[in-house]
Amino acid sequence: MEKKTGNGINKGLELVPGTVPVESSTSLTLQRLFFVGIALGLLFNAQYDPLMACAGLSILAYILTTILIPAFGPAFVRVGFFGRDLGKKDRPILPETMGFVCAIVYLMTMFFFIPFLFYKYFVTETSGSGNREQFVDTSAQMIHKGRQLKLFPHSKLAEYLAALLSSFSMLVLGVADDLFDIRWRDKLFLPAIAILPLVFVYYVDFGVTSVVVPSFLSKISNTELPMTIDLGIFYYIYMLAVAIFCPNSINIFAGINGLEAGQSFVIAIFLLINDAFYIVPGRILELHPPHPATEAHLLSVYMVLPMIAVTAALLKFNWYPARVFVGDTYCYFAGMVFAQVGILGHFAKTLLLFLIPQVLNFIYSAPQLFGLVDCPRHRLPRLDPETGLLEASRVYFTEVPPKGLQAILLSTLGKMKLLHLERNPETGTILSASNLTIINLVLTWSGPLREDKLAIVLLGIQTGFCTFGLAVRYTVAPLVFGRDNL
Ligand code: UD1
Ligand code: MG
Repeated sequence: MEKKTGNGINKGLELVPGTVPVESSTSLTLQRLFFVGIALGLLFNAQYDPLMACAGLSILAYILTTILIPAFGPAFVRVGFFGRDLGKKDRPILPETMGFVCAIVYLMTMFFFIPFLFYKYFVTETSGSGNREQFVDTSAQMIHKGRQLKLFPHSKLAEYLAALLSSFSMLVLGVADDLFDIRWRDKLFLPAIAILPLVFVYYVDFGVTSVVVPSFLSKISNTELPMTIDLGIFYYIYMLAVAIFCPNSINIFAGINGLEAGQSFVIAIFLLINDAFYIVPGRILELHPPHPATEAHLLSVYMVLPMIAVTAALLKFNWYPARVFVGDTYCYFAGMVFAQVGILGHFAKTLLLFLIPQVLNFIYSAPQLFGLVDCPRHRLPRLDPETGLLEASRVYFTEVPPKGLQAILLSTLGKMKLLHLERNPETGTILSASNLTIINLVLTWSGPLREDKLAIVLLGIQTGFCTFGLAVRYTVAPLVFGRDNL
C-alpha cells in the first residue's frame, strides 16, 4: 500500500529508511495569494521606488522558498544530500544542503531586482512619459558603439554584479563541500577565492583603502596624527580576511536545530537596523539632507532584505524539531552576503561588532582548530537518551594524556570555569574535556538543556551581543574616533 503523505510530494521517501517527511503545503493557499498581492503592489509601486520593490520581491522570495524547500527536500534525500539529526534519539534522516534552495531563490530575486534598481536611470535618458525618442540614435557613432546610457551608473551595476558573482561562486564551493565533505583546513580559504571578483571591482571603482585613525592616539602621542591612514594592500588583505571569517565562523557555530539560520537571521536584522540609521532620517523622513553614505547603505538593504526573507523561510523548517538541515552551502552563502555588504558599504568593523559571538567562538575553538587539542569530526552537543536533554560533548584523551602546553591550557581553562575537565581521581591526569565551542560552554554552565531551549539561549546571546555592538557603534566609536560619520 502506498504511504499516505498528505501532500503527495514525499512519494519515494521509503527508499531511505528513517526519513522525516518535510510536511508543509506546497500549494498557493489563500493566505499566500494575499501576500503575493501585497508583494506585487510593492514591486510595481507608482513611485518606482527600488526600496519598496525590494520589499515586494523579498515577500515573494519568502513565499517561494517556503514552497520549494518541502518540494525539493525528498529529491535531495534521494540523490544523497541528507544527514542524521544527531540530537534526536532515533537519529532521523533529514534533507541536507537546503541552503542551496535559499541561495538559488536569493540569486533569482537579485537578478529580477536589477531593472527595478536601475529604472530611474533608464527613464532619465529620455524625455519621460513613456517617450523613448532619445534611445533612437541613428548616428554613425551609435552603429559602431551601440546605445549609450550616459547617466547610467555602470560602476554601481559592476559592484552589484560582482557581489552576485561572488555569492554564486560561494554557492558552488558550498555545494562542493556538502558533496565531498572537504576537510575544514582545506575549505577555510574557499571564501577568499569567491570574494575575488568583488575585491577587483572595489579596486577599480572605489579603491578607498584608508581607515580612520582614533583621535585619542593623537592625544596619547602628543603629536598631530593624520585623520586617516592609508592601509594600501593591507586593506585588501583585511577584506579577504573578513570574507574568510564570516562564512567559516557561522559554519562552526553550529550543530543544533535552528542555530545556523537563526544566528544569520539575527545578524541580518541588525545590519538592517544599522542601515536604517543612515537611510530613515535623511531619505525617508527628510529631516535633513540624505547622508553621504545613503547609497552604500541602500545597497546593503537591497542585499540583506532578500537574505532575511529566504533565511526566515529556511528557519521555519530548520527550527526544532528540524525537518531539514541548512548544509555548509547555507553557512557559506550567508557569511558571504554579510562580508559583501560590509566591504561594499565600507562598514566591516560594524559588521564584526555584530559577529562578536562568532569571534568568541572562533577564539575559544582555536586550540582545537589549530591542532593543539584533538578535534573530533563533530563537536555538537551530545544527547542523553535517558533525559532527552543535550549536554556538552567531550574530547577524550584515552591514548595519550595531555602534556606540556596542551595540559597547561586545559588546566587553566578548567580553573577559569571555561571548560569542564574530567581527571583520573588517583593520578590527576586529564581524561576528557568538554569540546571548545560556545555551545558546549553554555551547556557546561547551565547544565543539560532541551535542544530548542538551548537554541533560544544561544540566539538570545547573539541578540544581546548585536545590541551591544550597535550601542558601541553609536556611542563608544564616535568617542574613540573623535567624530561620527552618521
Ligand atoms: C561544523 C563543526 C562541527 C559540528 C558541525 C555541526 C567545527 C570545526 N566543525 O562542522 O564540530 O559538529 O559543524 O553542523 O567546529 N547536525 C545535527 N543537527 C543540527 C545540525 C547539524 O545533527 O542541527 C549534524 C547532522 O548530522 C548534519 C551534520 O551535523 O548532517 C552537518 O555537519 P557539517 O555542516 O557537515 O559539519 P561541518 O560544518 O564540517
Ligand atoms: Mg556545517
